[in-house]
Amino acid sequence: MTVYAIIGGTGLTQLDGLTIRQSLPMNTPYGTPSGDIQIGDYAGREVMFLARHGHPHRLPPHKVNYRANLWALKQAGAEVILAVNAVGGIHPDMGTGHFCVPHDLVDYTSGREHTFFADDLEQVTHIDFSHPYSEPLRARLIAALAAEGYAFSDFGVYGCTQGPRLETAAEIIRLERDGCDIVGMTGMPEASLARELELEYACLALVVNPAAGKSSAVISMVEIEQALHDGIGKVKAALARVLSAD
Ligand code: HPA
Repeated sequence: MTVYAIIGGTGLTQLDGLTIRQSLPMNTPYGTPSGDIQIGDYAGREVMFLARHGHPHRLPPHKVNYRANLWALKQAGAEVILAVNAVGGIHPDMGTGHFCVPHDLVDYTSGREHTFFADDLEQVTHIDFSHPYSEPLRARLIAALAAEGYAFSDFGVYGCTQGPRLETAAEIIRLERDGCDIVGMTGMPEASLARELELEYACLALVVNPAAGKSSAVISMVEIEQALHDGIGKVKAALARVLSAD
């Protein structure tokens, strides 16, 4: 049976319903991951769970050790990664509470440890990253969202910014011009590191606020937390459906 791992983002630091059988503290050549890898049963099958920001939430997006997280999951036996990300909405369809299963991304991050192919290489390795997300896994996420009857987009470009500050309105206009539909801070280098390790990877993005300049209101943490609170039950239901369908 395929081994699935869920990387939970903001609002998903623990997976209620996961009957934890093992909590693995891991160490990797790249340092320690954001927390223990929890292994247990969810939706009738074995699954791994890792809280991207730690549990409780303590690591901002630029401090997450993405390399250690992906390496540890691979070492623990994960084959498929379902990444959950909270995002801002840029495209008019991407209102608060909307889901997006992005098909592509643009990386605006800087200074993050972003590759396993960094040192002591006999040969430089250039992975193909034309299509950063796994199509079969995207299809499973899309089917799950449709079956649950949630409002979602089955395509979209994820713009990944450095954070932790939110963007300026002008930056969002630039991202929009670049073709981005949603904006977040944690999609990269997670996706490319997964590809380097030959892990199947797709993202389930929940819109938690209109991106900067897309509404007249100031973006507040209260608003974001409310949207997370409202949407996280749906995230869990969609994930359960993906896991039980395979
Ligand atoms: N910008 C970047 N990251 C985010 C946002 C946003 O508006 N909302 C949630 N994560």
